[in-house]
Amino acid sequence: MTATLWTNARIVTADGTTTPSAPGALELLTDGGKIVALGADLPRQGAKIVDCEGRLMTPAPIDCHTHLVFGGDRAFEFEQRLDGVAYEEIARAGGGIKASMRATRAMDVDQLVTASLPRLDHLLAEGVSTVEIKSGYGLSVEAELHMLRAARAMETQRNVRIRKTWLAAHALPPEYAGRAVDYIHEVAIAGLNAGHAEGLIDAVDSFCEGIAFSTEELAPLYARAKALGLDVKIHSEQLSHAGGTAFAARHGALSADHLEYATAEDAALMAASGTVAVLLPGAFYTLRETVLPPVEAFRAAGVPMALSTDCNPGTSPLTSILMTMNMGATLFRLTVSECLKAVTCNAAQALGLSNETGRIAPGLSADLALWDVESPAQLVARIGFNPLHSRVFRGAECPQ
Ligand code: NIG
Ligand code: FE
Repeated sequence: MTATLWTNARIVTADGTTTPSAPGALELLTDGGKIVALGADLPRQGAKIVDCEGRLMTPAPIDCHTHLVFGGDRAFEFEQRLDGVAYEEIARAGGGIKASMRATRAMDVDQLVTASLPRLDHLLAEGVSTVEIKSGYGLSVEAELHMLRAARAMETQRNVRIRKTWLAAHALPPEYAGRAVDYIHEVAIAGLNAGHAEGLIDAVDSFCEGIAFSTEELAPLYARAKALGLDVKIHSEQLSHAGGTAFAARHGALSADHLEYATAEDAALMAASGTVAVLLPGAFYTLRETVLPPVEAFRAAGVPMALSTDCNPGTSPLTSILMTMNMGATLFRLTVSECLKAVTCNAAQALGLSNETGRIAPGLSADLALWDVESPAQLVARIGFNPLHSRVFRGAECPQ
C-alpha cells in the first residue's frame, strides 16, 4: 500500500482533545494501514495526496456493544409494550431473549450472516469500522458458537474489525429452567472452552439481573475466563441494582454496560479497576426507562464513558451510531466532546483496543471517517442525518 497524505482536513484526534484543528493546519500521513505521522507540512515525496476540502476528520466510530447477529424479529413485542405490557413480563412469559433464541436456533451460520449483514451495513454507512458482536441468542453450546462463527464470517465479507464476545450467560433457556448453576457449567463454561479452542472468543460477558443471572451463579464463569486469559465485561444494573458492577470491577472488567441503577459507590469501584461505563441510550429510550445512569458520578470519579447502539431485536433495535450520540447528549446530558470520545477512544478502551484504534495518533490503525460538516456539534445535534463523506479502514477508502 502506498503512503497517503491527507491534507486540508479539520482533524479531531480524540487523543486528549476533540477540538478540530483549523483546516489545513495539520496533515496526516498513513502507510501500510497505519497512521505514520500527524503534523504541519509533512514530507510529500512519493505519497498519494488526498485533499479533504475542509471536511471534518475523526477516528472512525466504534460500536462497542451489539447483539447484531440474531434470527427473527420482535416487532410484535414492541406492539405488546405499546399495549402496556412490561419488558420483564414479556421475558418471564417466554418472549424477549427466548423468542430470539428460538429464531436464532432455527438458522445455520450462513442464514445468520445473511440476516445480520444489513444491520452491519447500516453501521458501516455511518463510518463505523470496529464492531463488537455478542453471542447470547443461541443458549446452547452449538447455537452460541454458530453466532460467533457468523460474526467471524461477516468480518471476511466487509472492511471491518469485529470483536467477538461470549454471552452465553444472557438468559436461561427453557430446558435449564430452575437449573442456572448447571447451565453455567454445561453451556456457558463448556462452550467457552470450545469457542476459545476455536479462536472464536475475544471477551466474556453476562447479563446480571433478576431475570437473568446472579453474581454467585456467574462467579465460576468469570473464574474460567480469567484462567483462559480472556477479558471480561458485564450487563449490569439495567433494570435494578443486582450488584453486577461491583462484581465486574472485582474481576478487572473492561466495561460494565447499561448502568441506569448504578451508584456512586459502583462508579468509585469502576474508577479503581479501570472499567469503562458503556451507556446504551437506545435501550433506555426503547424501554422508556426513567432512571438515568449516574453520569455525574462517573465524571466525578473519572470513569471513561462510552456510548453504543446495543443493537438487538428487543430493547434497542438501533443501527445508528450517530443517533446513539444524539441520544447520549439529549437523554443522558453528555457534552458533544463526551459523545465523540464515547464512540471513539473510550469505545476502543471498552474493547481493549486502545493501542489499535479509536484515536488519530501515530502507530494506530488508520481507521478514519470524513464528514461533510465542520464541527463535532454538527455531527451530534442533528437527527436522522448522515453526513459521512467517506470511511477509511486500515488506510484505504472503502466504497460505500
Ligand atoms: O443489552 N440486557 C440484556 N440484553 C439485551 C437485550 C436483549 C433482548 O431483549 O433481546 C440488552 O439490552
Ligand atoms: Fe446488550
